[in-house]
Amino acid sequence: MDSIVVTGGAPLSGKIAIAGAKNAALTLMPATLLSEEPLTLTNAPRLSDIATMTALLQSLGVEVTSMQDGKVQVLSSHAMTSTTADYEIVRKMRASNLVLGPLLARHHQAVVSLPGGCAIGARPMDIHVTALEAMGAEIELKDGYLHAKASGGLKGAKVPLRFASVGATENVLMAATLAKGTTVIENAAREPEIVDLAHCLRRMGAQIEGEGTSTITIQGVDRLGAATHPVVTDRIELGTYMLAPVFAGGEVECLGGRLDLVGSFVEKLDAAGVDVTETPDGLKVKRRTDRAMAVDVTTEVFPGFPTDLQAQMMAMLCTADGTSVLEEKIFENRFMHAPELIRMGADIEVHGGIATVRGVDRLKGAPVMATDLRASVSLILAGLAAEGETTVSRIYHLDRGYEHIEEKLSGVGAKIERISS
Ligand code: EPZ
Repeated sequence: MDSIVVTGGAPLSGKIAIAGAKNAALTLMPATLLSEEPLTLTNAPRLSDIATMTALLQSLGVEVTSMQDGKVQVLSSHAMTSTTADYEIVRKMRASNLVLGPLLARHHQAVVSLPGGCAIGARPMDIHVTALEAMGAEIELKDGYLHAKASGGLKGAKVPLRFASVGATENVLMAATLAKGTTVIENAAREPEIVDLAHCLRRMGAQIEGEGTSTITIQGVDRLGAATHPVVTDRIELGTYMLAPVFAGGEVECLGGRLDLVGSFVEKLDAAGVDVTETPDGLKVKRRTDRAMAVDVTTEVFPGFPTDLQAQMMAMLCTADGTSVLEEKIFENRFMHAPELIRMGADIEVHGGIATVRGVDRLKGAPVMATDLRASVSLILAGLAAEGETTVSRIYHLDRGYEHIEEKLSGVGAKIERISS
């Protein structure tokens, strides 16, 4: 298994191009199932999760053509061969469950394996199931698979979500585009990836209003057509690289960065003593002094502080001036980066969903292990500032969500290399 070695202490300077959003692409790709016409996605990220979603869609009979080194994906589901999403693929990536809504909407049936738990939590699908049942689907759990059918098609309905689940909002939004009648999603997730999906569906001919707010109204149509859609910038990759100069010193410009994608994150950076400046090409980031200040962070649904940036923020706060309290309210077990940061000399105490971080002067490089996607990148960032070498193993987690991370960081002066073994 590959590992990445980072040698700390090199201040950063230069530009990092931010890719298209993994979590947008993973819901835009299944949208092809809603139409027999082709869907072309541009600005697509080159990630192993995209390859997994491609394999899943191809197992259903979707044609996926990758162009321009994977930045353009052309998908067509005019010749479907199956409506079963197999456990072997679904277990690798929870987002596979996003084929459920589209398959039900257009094919009136679907068999989708439950994804099973993952490192950060149980991640059930009750909100997805309840919502689709409200639209007339009959869904039964058998042998670890959801067996869903909607004879005569789905019907528009009022769909209140008990929690503003991103995936459930995406499944219902896609399903509702072809349902008979009007669907109103209440307490919908407001993430930019939902807005991006709505923009793409509208290009395909869907009638949608309210995306980005807690209430989304969809008027079902008989069919959807072809579309070409640019994948929105990845706000989590953006936030991750915005933190890099805070760890290592120097200044970095994140090309493609937009303030509206990272509002609450930038507020926290400002409180921690970090300047973020808008430029014609993106966002420029530089810490005001040679040590960030402690801040408290609570993860919330958008537009609150994103859970997917919690690990990276915790790593930065390990050497901030003062004590920070981080509360993780979205997932039940998302502090696995803490023990690895403690191996590097961090002072962190975890009690349930609360982590207290007392800033130390400097971390020390050490061999550490990645456990989930965002935890692994927090260790890479910590290595940028640590004394000596940090070796991060199990970096297959990283490759799921960060394209060419060693090139992007070494391109701005970081001492980082991938060791294949
Ligand atoms: C999406 O996951 C993202 N993944 C996650 O990013 C992100 O952390 C999460 O949203 C929250 O923002 C993709 O978009 C592919 P949820 P999703 O449904 O849709 C509970 C990353 O690192 N829940 O909003 O699965 C669930 O257990 C990944 O890129 C239920 O209880 O998130 C969790 O505690 C990690 N029942 C909370 O809600 C359900 O039916 C948030 O889940 C659904 C969810």
